[in-house]
Amino acid sequence: MPAMNGAPDTPRNTHFGFRTVGLDDKQAMVDEVFDKVAPRYDLMNDLMSGGLHRVWKDILATAVNPPRNERPFAVLDVAGGTGDVAFRIAEAGGSGTRVTVCDINEEMLDVGRERAAQRGLAAGVTFTAGNAESLPFPDKSFDAVSIAFGIRNVPRIDVALAEMHRVLRLGGRFLCLEFSNVDVPGLDALYELYSFNLVPAIGRAVVGDAEPYRYLVESIRRFPRPNAFAEMMHTAGFARLSHRALSGGIVALHSGWRL
Ligand SMILES: C[S@@+](CC[C@H](N)C(=O)[O-])C[C@H]1O[C@@H](n2cnc3c(N)ncnc32)[C@H](O)[C@@H]1O
Repeated sequence: MPAMNGAPDTPRNTHFGFRTVGLDDKQAMVDEVFDKVAPRYDLMNDLMSGGLHRVWKDILATAVNPPRNERPFAVLDVAGGTGDVAFRIAEAGGSGTRVTVCDINEEMLDVGRERAAQRGLAAGVTFTAGNAESLPFPDKSFDAVSIAFGIRNVPRIDVALAEMHRVLRLGGRFLCLEFSNVDVPGLDALYELYSFNLVPAIGRAVVGDAEPYRYLVESIRRFPRPNAFAEMMHTAGFARLSHRALSGGIVALHSGWRL
């Protein structure tokens, strides 16, 4: 297995899984991963997490806490892919809740648009192509901003955090769901074994290619620990920071406010 941390990031380098790559190369490589997995993305999430991703996303939607009435409430779900989080937020909110999914990958957005139509949610959930590093929205235009399992794919995390802060209104909440570090003795070894062996094998069986899922597992290991990520959120301008470990630390829900 390659070294867990590899070479340090530099202003021009970052990591694609365990490989050190140029910042601009990373996005192209990430796009290729999601082009490949888009049609089977939702099925793979169920298979890999044993359905747990549904629980984590429900917790995120509950934390967004959209009003249950007709009061206008605009949410941006960045790197929202096939709309899984957006649908939950729209369903939790009242008739005034509008969710915008922004994602860089058209294949993922196309799957999302189709799912929204099938669920009768096309009026409440809209899909926009855009890069998290330069969001195509005005300053302070959303009441809440979420991102689930997306931030670790973005080459310049600091730039994306600053962008999500920019588009959030004063008093608005930012929520980020991301894989984290399993700290429960016993579970950590089991999780390691599962992720480096079974996950790529499931990927090969379902998507026909183990590589995208090897990237997934490696990128999870490279993602900053919760305290380091909180420091990045602080630098981007977020306040009242907190995080909550879910499922023994497999995932963490990070929260911050624009004050
Ligand atoms: C693991 S998926 C998460 C999708 C969805 N949030 C979910 O939880 O089901 C990661 C998503 O990040 C998107 N993504 C990667 N880089 C991005 C960027 N720079 N800007 C916006 N989206 C990006 C990918 O296209 C992909 O849809």
